[in-house]
Amino acid sequence: MIHWCLWLLMLLLLASNISHSQASRKSENKIKSAVFLSPKLPFRPGSVLNKYYYNIGFPKGHIAIKSFNGELVDEALNPVPLHETYLHHWVVERYYQRKESDNLNNTRIQLMSNGLCQDTILRQYFGLGSETRKTATHIPDPYGIEVGNPVKIPDGYEEIWMLNIHGIDTRGVENRLGCTECWCDLYNVTPYLNGQPLGPDDYKGGLLCCSDGKQCRLRQEFKGAKRNLYLRYTVKWVDWDSNIIPVDIYVFDVTDTEERLNTSGVISLQHNCQIEYDAGSCNATGVARNRCIVGIRTSLSIPTDGYLIYGVGHQHVGGVGITLYGKHGRVLCPSVPAYGKGKEAGNEAGYIVGMSTCYPKPGSLKITGGETLVLESNYNGTRNHIGVMGLFYILVADRIA
Ligand SMILES: *[C@@H]1O[C@H](CO)[C@@H](O)[C@H](O)[C@H]1NC(C)=O
Ligand SMILES: *[C@@H]1O[C@H](CO)[C@@H](O)[C@H](O)[C@H]1NC(C)=O
Ligand SMILES: *[C@@H]1O[C@H](CO)[C@@H](O)[C@H](O)[C@H]1NC(C)=O
Ligand SMILES: *[C@@H]1O[C@H](CO)[C@@H](O)[C@H](O)[C@H]1NC(C)=O
Repeated sequence: MIHWCLWLLMLLLLASNISHSQASRKSENKIKSAVFLSPKLPFRPGSVLNKYYYNIGFPKGHIAIKSFNGELVDEALNPVPLHETYLHHWVVERYYQRKESDNLNNTRIQLMSNGLCQDTILRQYFGLGSETRKTATHIPDPYGIEVGNPVKIPDGYEEIWMLNIHGIDTRGVENRLGCTECWCDLYNVTPYLNGQPLGPDDYKGGLLCCSDGKQCRLRQEFKGAKRNLYLRYTVKWVDWDSNIIPVDIYVFDVTDTEERLNTSGVISLQHNCQIEYDAGSCNATGVARNRCIVGIRTSLSIPTDGYLIYGVGHQHVGGVGITLYGKHGRVLCPSVPAYGKGKEAGNEAGYIVGMSTCYPKPGSLKITGGETLVLESNYNGTRNHIGVMGLFYILVADRIA
């Protein structure tokens, strides 16, 4: 029953979007838009879900993606505020998948974005966290993310998309901030890595302690019901044409360390992204002066020249800004979190509800291949924040219009 309602609503949403885009066809340059719902996410008070869904609803064909955003909604499709269910992140990855499922081996090939992290880490096309409602993701004309090019899809394969959603239900929990920062003691977890206990001194919190199925400690008297949520996501795109300039996607991590390896004359760059870190806190002097910012930085480079088209950072609560610099301290893009001030979805007090973005005039900021870039992530060090992130997502074009 509920499924039929959702389908109906989806159709209505699609219909309203189509009529909207038709109505404004001239100004919007034939941008198409569709709204999708993830599979249902059954949350209990205090529970964690970290789910991976392959072959999600996504526009088909040879297209250029113009924007992608999402938010958690309940069964009536009402937005769910972060203080009820915290959206740690959603991430979208791209794959080629074998059409026949008889061969169980190697049925999926991940199409990774341009890096820089090691292996398959942070190789998503799109991804945001609690800031998802108030973070601009549109890509200006004539740029776009090219996908679905039939010439590039191997025989017997089709292009599919994977959606990873990590949410933490904090209704009735003892310590909301602690649950969202994934403090191990609140989850009764002694994390192990390679069979070795990390120990409370080494690892106080982070993704290892709030993995799928974990439970954050509730207030003793609290009784709350299970409820089903969905990630509702909106994709905008245009059909591919030769006037569109494709962009590359880079995701930088402030914990990354770039090492130059020389293997018998062949130089390669080794990366070591940790994704999370503990921000740390200031000493008493710093706190007293109220100038208590704790920051870390790292140096990185991209392999080829490109023009910066879009940039945005990702931080957790406590973040006060993350900035990407070029050579000689040239500012490429500062991204600053916006904190909510109220109760309603999109303005939740104490949570990061948006990140500022950069849309430099195309052509005005050129990054040279091999140029030393510096990423600096700053947190308020009045108290320690654990399991935080300092990521930076940029879109780069190899030419301008
Ligand atoms: C999968 O790979 C394994 C090891 O390479 C092989 O033994 C097995 O037969 C393969 N299965 C299929 C369905 O191809
Ligand atoms: C790399 O190592 C080779 C020797 O294996 C050496 O001749 C060369 O100068 C090294 N290159 C750099 C850039 O360090
Ligand atoms: C305290 O922090 C300030 C800056 O944050 C630094 O200049 C100072 O050396 C620190 N003092 C001690 C005792 O670590
Ligand atoms: C840091 O946090 C403290 C305590 O919440 C607050 O009083 C202070 O204004 C914050 N500083 C900055 C720079 O955000």
